[in-house]
Amino acid sequence: MANRLPVDRIEMPDGSTAWRRSPGGLVTALAPVMQGHHGAWIGWTGSADEKLDPFDDNGMHLVPVMLSAEDVQLYYEGFSNATLWPLYHDVIVAPEFHREWWESYVAVNRRFAEAAADAADDNADVWVHDYQLQLVPAMLRRLRPDVRIGFFLHIPFPPTELFAQMPWRRQILDGLMGADLVGFQRPGAASNFARLARNRMGLRTRGDRIHLPDDRIVRAKAFPISIDVNELEHIARQPETTARAAEMRQEVGNPTHILLGVDRLDYTKGIRQRLRAFGELLDEKRISVDNAVFIQVATPSRERVEQYRVLRDEIELLVGRINGEHGRIGTPAINYLHTSYSRTEMAALFRAADVAVVTPLRDGMNLVAKEYVSTRYDDTGALVLSEFAGAADEFRQAFLVNPHDINGMKDTIVDAMNTDERQLGRRMKAMRKHLAAHDVNVWAQNFLKALHDED
Ligand code: ADP
Ligand code: G6P
Repeated sequence: MANRLPVDRIEMPDGSTAWRRSPGGLVTALAPVMQGHHGAWIGWTGSADEKLDPFDDNGMHLVPVMLSAEDVQLYYEGFSNATLWPLYHDVIVAPEFHREWWESYVAVNRRFAEAAADAADDNADVWVHDYQLQLVPAMLRRLRPDVRIGFFLHIPFPPTELFAQMPWRRQILDGLMGADLVGFQRPGAASNFARLARNRMGLRTRGDRIHLPDDRIVRAKAFPISIDVNELEHIARQPETTARAAEMRQEVGNPTHILLGVDRLDYTKGIRQRLRAFGELLDEKRISVDNAVFIQVATPSRERVEQYRVLRDEIELLVGRINGEHGRIGTPAINYLHTSYSRTEMAALFRAADVAVVTPLRDGMNLVAKEYVSTRYDDTGALVLSEFAGAADEFRQAFLVNPHDINGMKDTIVDAMNTDERQLGRRMKAMRKHLAAHDVNVWAQNFLKALHDED
């Protein structure tokens, strides 16, 4: 179960409704896993006040949980995305703490726990996903002591000093301790959690095991998530995709280098820092619009949360300024697209890009980096990657950057553009080899196996 179902219900211009794939990395990773298993996906449809019966879509059985307009405002936009999201991402913007939001978070988590308790067979495995549902494990255990409960956090788990700001820190730790296994993206996150168990809850820990007073053991471990590697590579290899990628290159004026950014429009992604770096390279004439064009695709996200509105305005102002100074008629320096694309269009964009620029200030994993690598079947292309993304643990051959260091980022982008093909090929090959051996199905198998490990 996750806050969101893998599909969103959307209104069409003619007033009818349709289903569309939901945004974000959680859905990208889990949809192929769930298509290969039987079992239900419990979650919200993305619209307020919608009560729907369970239904099947794309080989998955989906069980909707209703959120009222008030739940959306307080639990989803409020506590999940204006308290937890910034707190867990290194306080890039200030988290807000409101008691009303917390109360709604508790109530909605209870609703999800009840939905899981209703849907699960005897002794079933229930896998709870992400920061929106951290109280569910303990609530569900009380309702259904027979089920095995796994929890996976897709985003970072913060250092203990930051977590300590949370007024309801004890309740959140108690909620997570209801699971048999708590999975994180990086080993450091698992040790932050174990440290809190020791220092704030007085629990004994040994290796990845946390000992509870009732003799139960909770394990906390890293399971770096991945993608369905073959899916996007398969699309990338289609002749239509190659043709579309060539067409895109023509459309942006056939430059020597296309640089690409693909993100939800989120302040954690470092979009502003990367565009500033690009703009300064143009200012300093280290590159020009004839040899380098930036395509930035930014999917709209959480648009009613204040910090996301502020970000959108800032990015649009910056793009306008850079294009005004450096663009030519028909050739803007930055092609900025505030839209969501199909998988085919996405694969073509990745194929068209000579340099993927993935520079989050903090990111649990970052699947865009993995998607780019999966489409480079001919070992071409360069990946510029932030050290602060989980993916940097695995892609040591990427051009690693600190996105806070604009000068360093400028030098690395230029370096990525100027590195010769053979060297790029060696780096890409190594990354592709790693990715091929660490597919999302391997991730799911490892997690589920650990959930059943008794030793
Ligand atoms: P997050 O989970 O924070 O959104 P990830 O990089 O892990 O970040 O995952 C983002 C997912 O959303 C990827 O599968 C990516 O392809 C997809 N995505 C991002 N931007 C767009 C877009 N404009 N159109 C379609 N899909 C997008
Ligand atoms: C990230 C989070 C997911 C979330 C997704 C999209 O991937 O880890 O839990 O679903 O972003 O965000 P949204 O708020 O639109 O669900």
